Amino acid sequence: MTRHRLSDKAHRHDAAYQRAKQENYAARAVYKLEEIDKRFHILRQGARVLDLGCWPGSWIQYAGDRVTETGYVLGLDLKPVVLSFPAHVEHRVADVFEWTPGPDLPPFDVVLSDMAPHTTGDRHTDVVRSEGLAERALDIACMVLRPGGHCVAKVFQGGGFGELLKRFRASFQEARPYHAKNSRSTSTEQYLVGRGLKASATVRRP
Ligand SMILES: C[S@@+](CC[C@H](N)C(=O)[O-])C[C@H]1O[C@@H](n2cnc3c(N)ncnc32)[C@H](O)[C@@H]1O
Repeated sequence: MTRHRLSDKAHRHDAAYQRAKQENYAARAVYKLEEIDKRFHILRQGARVLDLGCWPGSWIQYAGDRVTETGYVLGLDLKPVVLSFPAHVEHRVADVFEWTPGPDLPPFDVVLSDMAPHTTGDRHTDVVRSEGLAERALDIACMVLRPGGHCVAKVFQGGGFGELLKRFRASFQEARPYHAKNSRSTSTEQYLVGRGLKASATVRRP
């Protein structure tokens, strides 16, 4: 009898990788977004979505399908995405710390961030950088979301997590951390899910 050396969860991830390949998604990360979307009802037909850290592209593939051609998806990443997309899905190379939304960019309904730093192996450094990315995602969300909009941002859980969650709770009607079942078992990643941006949290764009 053949035995899997992988743990059940690792095996499930391997299966997710195979499934993503079969379903033509750029990464198995898509199943984390699907899980979050099903649970928190983040994406809908016609929505405008900004996806931070979009490479290799599975979240913008999924979001593009969910919002359909009546919506719009813009993905940003340090690296260029090489897939082709329908006209309502765009992607640009940009560093979120340098990118600012132009004053004439219409508001978004959803901001997603699956951004992760290049890991250094030093856990403290990686966590601090990940917290910086999640904080930047929230700052951008406050600049581009319409009141009532939603934000999902990944963060490696560490010392600044409580403070970040507090900021999400201050900015949204409802906010909570969510650990996706499709995350690797060894991962400390959490998604901060904020629903319903408070009008008082919106920030005028520079
Ligand atoms: C886990 S990947 C995202 C996977 C993506 N959600 C998908 O499903 O294909 C994290 C991405 O965050 C991007 N990233 C990290 N720092 C960034 C920054 N300052 N600005 C833009 N993107 C950044 C990385 O380049 C990397 O491609």
